[in-house]
Amino acid sequence: MPGLTIGDSVPNLEVETTHGVIKLHDYIDTWTILFSHPGDFTPVCTTELGKMAAYAPEFAKRGVKLLGLSCDDVSSHAEWVKDIEAYTVRISPSKRSLLIWVIGRYSVEHPGCKVTYPIIADPKRELIKILNMVDPDEKDSSGHNVPSRALHIVGADKRIKLSFLYPASTGRNMDEVVRVLDSLERSSKNKIATPANWKPGEDVVISPSVSDEEAKKLFPQGFKTVGLPSNKGYLRFTNVDH
Ligand code: BEZ
Repeated sequence: MPGLTIGDSVPNLEVETTHGVIKLHDYIDTWTILFSHPGDFTPVCTTELGKMAAYAPEFAKRGVKLLGLSCDDVSSHAEWVKDIEAYTVRISPSKRSLLIWVIGRYSVEHPGCKVTYPIIADPKRELIKILNMVDPDEKDSSGHNVPSRALHIVGADKRIKLSFLYPASTGRNMDEVVRVLDSLERSSKNKIATPANWKPGEDVVISPSVSDEEAKKLFPQGFKTVGLPSNKGYLRFTNVDH
């Protein structure tokens, strides 16, 4: 899909949100997750926005701001937020099952997580085109394009550092969003990259552009080079968390 992608600057658009009018460059003054949803009052989107609300403390701990987007207008968002908050509970899945058993399945009467982040309105579907968030296949009842499940992680320099693009049929995993944030944070401070399935605390790899001589200076904690048939010595592990 053409348009905004990693490395690009997010344009300084003025957008209408549930928190009033926001200029994107004013809002994005730290790491920011800009994430879109196909539509208000749809099932997967309700669970995703709820999970974002439940994970808000994890994002805040990392100094990361959230900014949602769904087509539909601000008044629709405001009504929808009531459903999202009623559905979402900030407790572990096992305790949650017990709670649901006690109070009745998905009762709208128990208090949920507050949606504290703004949600952009894009009823004319203009922003989703500019922000590369259009789902090419999914249409609303009037035949108009709707947003995909796009998620841009933007740095304080307003540039996109990472993008997910999921179809409407697949809800995102917020644990993965937190994991990639932790990877981005470490790789922005060190000349490293994180290997497949990496989790915080595990070894990272030294960037290929770093020579062994430089690596000795940059990583006084030491590093291990994995012996491979090519003998090229490119797979070097170190740890930046211990
Ligand atoms: C949903 O959020 O559940 C959804 C939205 C649009 C198409 C399919 C699913």
